[in-house]
Amino acid sequence: IKKITVPLIQSWKAKGEKIAMLTAYDYTFAQIFDQANLDVILVGDSAANVMAGYETTLPISLDEMIYHAASVKRAVKRALVVADLPFGSYQGSKDAAFESAVKMMKQSGVEALKLEGGIEIAEKVKMLVAAGIPIMGHLGLTPQSVNQFGGYGLRAKETAEADKLKSDALTLEKAGAFAIVLEKVPASLAEEVSKSLSIPTIGIGAGNDCDGQVLVMQDMLGLNTAFLPKFVRKYSNLSEQVTTAVQSYSQDVKDGNFPNNEESY
Ligand code: KIV
Ligand code: NA
Repeated sequence: IKKITVPLIQSWKAKGEKIAMLTAYDYTFAQIFDQANLDVILVGDSAANVMAGYETTLPISLDEMIYHAASVKRAVKRALVVADLPFGSYQGSKDAAFESAVKMMKQSGVEALKLEGGIEIAEKVKMLVAAGIPIMGHLGLTPQSVNQFGGYGLRAKETAEADKLKSDALTLEKAGAFAIVLEKVPASLAEEVSKSLSIPTIGIGAGNDCDGQVLVMQDMLGLNTAFLPKFVRKYSNLSEQVTTAVQSYSQDVKDGNFPNNEESY
C-alpha cells in the first residue's frame, strides 16, 4: 500500500493529477472508501447535519468530532485523513486553537486539520503549521458562518467578496496551509484562484478547474433523499436499495421466512 501523504498530494498539482476527496464519519464506510483507493477522507463537521440531524454545522462539539475522526482513522490504511475543527473550537484565541488542534490530533490520530476562514485565522494557521500540523483552508461558502451569510447561497459573485477570497487564498498559502477547499463559488473565480496558488485547491460547487473535488458521501451515494444542490452528482441510489432491503427483511420476518434452517443453530 502506498500511503497518501500531504507532500504526495501537493506534488500532484504540478503533474495535473487531481485529488479525489469524500467525507466519511464512521469506521464501516471509511474502510470501504479506503479499499476503493480514495485519496483523501474528510471527517467533515457536516457530521452535524448528516449524522446528527442538525440544521447547521454549529452544534457539533470537538469531542463529537473526535469520536467520528477516531472511528474513521481506525479503518484507514492508505488514504490521507483530514478532520474539521468545529465551530467555536478555534475562533476565540490562538490558545484555544492550539488546545483544540492538539486534542484532535492526539485523540483521533488524523493527519491534518481543516479550518474555515481567511485572513481572520491566518495567524492561527501559521502557529499550527509551526507546531507540525498540516492545515487545510476552506473559503467561499463556509457553513460555520451561515448566520452571517443568511443562508447557503453562492458566495463571491460580487467583486468585493471575490477580491477578498483571492487575497484570503494567498494569505492562507503564505501562512503555510497545504491545500484549500473552495465551496460554492463561481467556476471562473475558482479557476483563477487555483492558478494563482502553488498549493492545491479542492472544489465543491466550484467548477472543474480546481485541483481536486470533494462531496458529502450521503449526497453522492444517494443516501440523502432531501433536496440536493446542482453541484452534487449522484453515483448511487443507496436510499432506494436500503428501503428495498428493509422492506424485504420485514416481510420475511412477518411471513416466518427468516431465519430458515441453514440460518439456525
Ligand atoms: O464538512 C464538510 O462536509 C465539508 C466539505 C463539504 C468540504 O467541509
Ligand atoms: Na466542514
